[in-house]
Parts: sequence; structure tokens; C-alpha cells
Amino acid sequence: MSFIELQDVYFRYTKDDYALNGINLSINRGEHVCILGHNGSGKSTLAKILVGLIEKKKGHIYIDGIELDEKTIDNIRQKIGIVFQNPDNQFVGVTVEDDIAFGLENRKVSRDEMIKLINQFSSKVSMQDFLNRNPEELSGGEKQRVAIAGVLAMNPEVIIFDEATSMLDPKGVKEVMEVIENIKKEKTIISITHNLSEAKHCDRIIVMNQGKIVLDGTPEEVFKNTNVLIESRLDILDSMKLIDKVKNSTLNINKKQEVEDALWQYAYHK
Ligand SMILES: Nc1ncnc2c1ncn2[C@@H]1O[C@H](COP(=O)(O)OP(=O)(O)O)[C@@H](O)[C@H]1O
Ligand SMILES: [Mg+2]
Repeated sequence: MSFIELQDVYFRYTKDDYALNGINLSINRGEHVCILGHNGSGKSTLAKILVGLIEKKKGHIYIDGIELDEKTIDNIRQKIGIVFQNPDNQFVGVTVEDDIAFGLENRKVSRDEMIKLINQFSSKVSMQDFLNRNPEELSGGEKQRVAIAGVLAMNPEVIIFDEATSMLDPKGVKEVMEVIENIKKEKTIISITHNLSEAKHCDRIIVMNQGKIVLDGTPEEVFKNTNVLIESRLDILDSMKLIDKVKNSTLNINKKQEVEDALWQYAYHK
């Protein structure tokens, strides 16, 4: 069994359509998976189910071999952390330090241990010089980095980033992406996004549409399915558009295949 396993999982908020409509998914320990999908496709619902904020209606969810239910939820919550979209909705403390410490206080960590962890994880996100600052004074990217430090301090095995960069300016996006890059060797990461260029750096991409998984593969495999991406109301990479243009062109190019291959390589140029 994989580290995270969902078997035929259904969820709906009201009597209307299922927000999750029969999800089957396995994620291995250490993978960096991106979940891509347009607004309303069910990405956040999936994230909320995994962290136990809402409960599935049908199906089975296993994390680290343990089935998620009322009895195991407290244990499983320690294995999964989440960073949300809006940097302003994540703060509870008066200072950055209080904020990073918040979860630790609930765990009855000793004062010395807490100081050590605060120093360790604020440095990990390059926020060690901001410990006494009020989180409200920080930029969006800085706020998200503090939120990440708070999650890391709890030492979860999995971290879900639910569109954690979508409200940030380009500088903030870059800062947060660097932090994710920096921790991905140590954690299992699920990045939820509708940004294609963010997704192409993952090991694996899962595309959701109307509560279902419609594609699951490496970035290369997924981006080749331009029809499914378009049906899922997602944009396609500029290089893919060019590939289609070259393919369908009446241009008299001798080396059409070479041009296509070059564009593929360009698509993965990091
Ligand atoms: N709290 C809620 N109450 C009722 N419907 C909801 C709620 N949250 C989300 N939905 C609906 O569930 C579907 C999936 O939403 P969501 O998981 O938030 O999508 P995404 O994160 O991909 O944008 C959408 O149709 C959305 O309108
Ligand atoms: Mg969402």
C-alpha cells in the first residue's frame, strides 16, 4: 500500500453534485505531486479531506497504512500539514515567533526545545531576523514563509500547499517556490495549483475536473494530453501551442520532427 491511498472516495457539500466523485489515488512517500485543475474542480475539497477538516461520504482513505476515521484522525493530523491560499488567514500570534510556536504549545514541547525549533525552522524559510515582528507587517511571501515554518515545526511527513502562491506577487511566489524546492527532499509534497509552469517542476501531475481525476502521470505525459487539458478548462503551455501549430502547419519544413522535439525540450527547460 502507498503512503497515501484513496479508494473510491466521494464527498458532497449539499445534495447537489459530488465535489469528489470517485477518487482513486496513491501517493508514495517522498513524491512531489502537483494537483492541477480549474476553479471548482475539487482540489481544496481533496486537501480538506486529507487533513480531516471534512469527512468523506463513501470510500476509504489510508495514510501510512492507517485508515482515516474518527478514531485515527488525531494521529493522522500529525502526519499532514497544510498551507492555505490566503496568507492573511493563517495567523494567530502577535509576533512571528508566537506564530511558529503556536502548534508546539499545544504539543507541550519544553521551552528550550521550542526555542530551538523556532530558530531552526525560521532559518529554514529565511525568516530568522523577523521573529519579533508583527505578522501583519510582513509581505505576502514572508507571511507564507512563516506559515510554512509553523507547519515544518510540527514535523509532518506530508505538506499540502493549497494554492499557497496564488495571492502573492512574483517576488513572493519565487520566495515560496524556493522554500518548497528546499524542503522537497525531506517531505512528501502535494502542491495544488492552476499554474502550469509551477506544475512542470513536480515529479507527477494529477489533473482534476468536476470532482474526478482525469490525468495522472509525469509532467511530460500530462502536458501531451492537450485535449484533456483543454476539456478541463486549463491552459496549455505556450510551447505546446507552438508544437500544435508546427504539426498542423502546411509549412514546408524538412525537419518538422526536429522542431517539435526542440519545443518539447524547451517546455522542460527549467
Ligand atoms: N463550503 C462549501 N459549501 C458548498 N459547496 C462548496 C463548498 N466548498 C466548495 N464547494 C463546491 O465544491 C466544488 C469543489 O470546490 P473546491 O474543492 O473548493 O474546488 P477548487 O479548490 O478546485 O477550486 C465546487 O463546485 C464548489 O462550489
Ligand atoms: Mg481551492
